[in-house]
Amino acid sequence: MNEQLAGKHIVLGLSGGVACYKSAELCRLLVKAGATVQVVMTEAAAQFITPVTMQALSGRSVYTSQWDTREANNMPHINLSREADAILIAPCSADFIARLVQGRADELLSLLCLARPRDRVPLLLAPAMNREMWGHPATQRNLAQVARDGATVLGVGFGDQACGETGDGRMLEAAEILEELEAFFTPQLLTGQHVLITAGPTFEAIDPVRGITNLSSGKMGFAIARAARAAGAQVTLVAGPVHLPTPRGVRRIDVRSAQNMLAIVEEQAREATIFIATAAVADWRPATAALHKIKKDGTGDVPALEFVENPDILATVARTERARAGRLYCVGFAAESENLLEHASAKRERKGVPLLVGNIGPATFGQDDNALLLVDAQGHRELPRASKEALGHQLVAEIARRLAAV
Ligand code: C5P
Repeated sequence: MNEQLAGKHIVLGLSGGVACYKSAELCRLLVKAGATVQVVMTEAAAQFITPVTMQALSGRSVYTSQWDTREANNMPHINLSREADAILIAPCSADFIARLVQGRADELLSLLCLARPRDRVPLLLAPAMNREMWGHPATQRNLAQVARDGATVLGVGFGDQACGETGDGRMLEAAEILEELEAFFTPQLLTGQHVLITAGPTFEAIDPVRGITNLSSGKMGFAIARAARAAGAQVTLVAGPVHLPTPRGVRRIDVRSAQNMLAIVEEQAREATIFIATAAVADWRPATAALHKIKKDGTGDVPALEFVENPDILATVARTERARAGRLYCVGFAAESENLLEHASAKRERKGVPLLVGNIGPATFGQDDNALLLVDAQGHRELPRASKEALGHQLVAEIARRLAAV
């Protein structure tokens, strides 16, 4: 389930193109997110993927013709466009864009786009075509015109194309389109904000091949980054070593150690308006990292490791002029095994941040869900167990509400 898409009725329109194969996956993801999907295909689309496949995945019979007599009033273009919360054309071919520009109405999909109530049913387009077609002035002119006419153009990917060429024009991946659609339905609570987020563990080197780290997966921080971007913020994500894809539209900077992370964060914090520290920064690092791999010498002796304390990134940022002047709102996280409220309140004071978020145990490292305890100067409140994605959206709303109050 997906908070933004659950219960939404999406008309998924397919025009002709090899990218139709991705629409099968898109349909599946939409259904999984809790949306109902009504597929409408052009004749050309049916050359690339069968309506049977799309029917099986959407659980609804597919419309391919305006002469479809199943509708009592014989007006599928009116009925389908009135029922929709959004019309998403994916793939949207160069020809289909040209049809939209001309306001053509000679087949069902163009017809229902023309008939859509523009004040309440958004039209989103995921273009897909060969790079020359994409770059052609006619296509670019048409895209600018459909955008002026009120459509939202989702952009394209770069890479290998079915024709064997490489360039711009590939349809976005299904998961990327889903993310765009989700952002489209998200209240724009953070427009104009620049959110800086740390996520994941840090890695503190012992020698060139060894080091100490922890089990943080980075999932909570990545989910917050995705939610903040969906809410209209510009987002910079400073990530320790994690195995997670970069959320769409988020600027990601990879780091290894706490010292690397601090250097990047200090630089980025100059522009940020919100700083959310979710990273599980190692408290200590080996005092020196050996230049070469430490060898076993056969005597049974073990190397003695001496540690020094790492800089506290959150506390450092919270002490800056910008944060103290109220131009950078700082949020910390805490993972405690006992007395969460007490420890989280003390940590909030110690780090000098207005909002401290406690992970309500048991430890959620690597898991997809979590429960949070929000502690601020006014008191505390719980965000009950939910997916990290959903909690990311809730936390964004909580932060936006606090920012609006100051
Ligand atoms: O002190 P503790 O590690 O429990 O504090 C957790 C909070 O402080 C988290 O927000 C974490 O990202 C941040 N932190 C930090 N730099 C450190 C240690 C923790 O930014 N060296």
